[in-house]
Amino acid sequence: MTIRIGVIGTGVMGAGHASMLASQIAGCEVVAVADADEARAKVVAGKVGAARVFSDGKALIGDTGVDAVVVASPDPTHHPLVMECLRQVKPVLCEKPLGTNSTECREIVETEMRSGRRLVQVGFMRRFDPGYEAVKAALTEERHGLPLFLHCIHRNAVAASYTTSEAIILNTAVHEIDAARFLLGEEFVSATVRGTRATRSAPSRTPQFLLLETASGVLVDIEAFVDAQYGYDVRAELVCEKGAMSLAQTHAVRTWSSGTVGNSLYADWMGRFDDAYRRELQAWVQSIRSWKAVGASAWDGYVSTRTAELCLEAYRSRQTVTIDIEERPAFYA
Ligand SMILES: NC(=O)c1ccc[n+]([C@@H]2O[C@H](COP(=O)([O-])OP(=O)(O)OC[C@H]3O[C@@H](n4cnc5c(N)ncnc54)[C@H](O)[C@@H]3O)[C@@H](O)[C@H]2O)c1
Repeated sequence: MTIRIGVIGTGVMGAGHASMLASQIAGCEVVAVADADEARAKVVAGKVGAARVFSDGKALIGDTGVDAVVVASPDPTHHPLVMECLRQVKPVLCEKPLGTNSTECREIVETEMRSGRRLVQVGFMRRFDPGYEAVKAALTEERHGLPLFLHCIHRNAVAASYTTSEAIILNTAVHEIDAARFLLGEEFVSATVRGTRATRSAPSRTPQFLLLETASGVLVDIEAFVDAQYGYDVRAELVCEKGAMSLAQTHAVRTWSSGTVGNSLYADWMGRFDDAYRRELQAWVQSIRSWKAVGASAWDGYVSTRTAELCLEAYRSRQTVTIDIEERPAFYA
């Protein structure tokens, strides 16, 4: 059975997903695309061979020729579009974050549980990155003993001018929050957050530093710096009782010149996580065919947004904030 997919949002992420689904992912075809900017949607439709173009995401979801949906439109559209997918009982891969706040995410969780079927996957693609998977496997087998520290770095070259210090926590650091939860397999219990001084290239926002503690006492620090200028740079190092593991940096090219040797950096996430996106999309399509959910669930989407919200509270208050996540429902076991 070929899964007929509709993609909503044809900007950077949506165009990338549509192209990958159409050319590299087995068992599916892209039959429809939607974008508020219909002209942009038409260009992407032409490239991926999608016959139908919509300017309204809900109309795409309602199309009887669409079996499953990718939501890659801006964050505020995620909740209404995912809710519509649940109403129409259509599997949906929603880009992160699942909602703009935890109330929206919780409503999605409750609605999905009432539907009795796992239909929502959240686009936390790090879970499909071979490096993160290898660290997770080593941790699960306790190859280096118990974890003590997880150091996470998330640097972008540049960010949109409207990006705020708050958005750096809710939209950027949320990736690291989910990755840490995925690796460590437990929730956070407290957060302290500080911004350093603003940089001269982005005076309206401050790079963020988050210090979180997990239920078992692992300390996780996250640097979220979206104006680093020099390139896209994501790192993680896990320190355990008798060993440490760090993500190997993937590089397209190594250069020897002018007395130095260096590795080129990816400009952004599309190159760095190309493999993770491909594996995420293939696993999602396979999960629809097998009815066996994979990747980050709606619950993971809720918890990561709730955790990020409390980090925001810690940033604003300059106090250490308690994180009290409810028990994971059996539905998401
Ligand atoms: N997983 C990741 O690594 C990752 C990376 C970047 C962005 N994202 C997420 O992906 C989403 C899209 O980000 P992007 O960088 O592609 O943004 P973008 O601005 O490049 O593209 C968004 C597209 O959505 C369209 N759009 C706006 N409102 C719409 C609506 N109501 N209905 C349909 N289309 C609408 C816009 O016209 C635009 O074409 C965001 O939620 C973002 O947080 C995820």
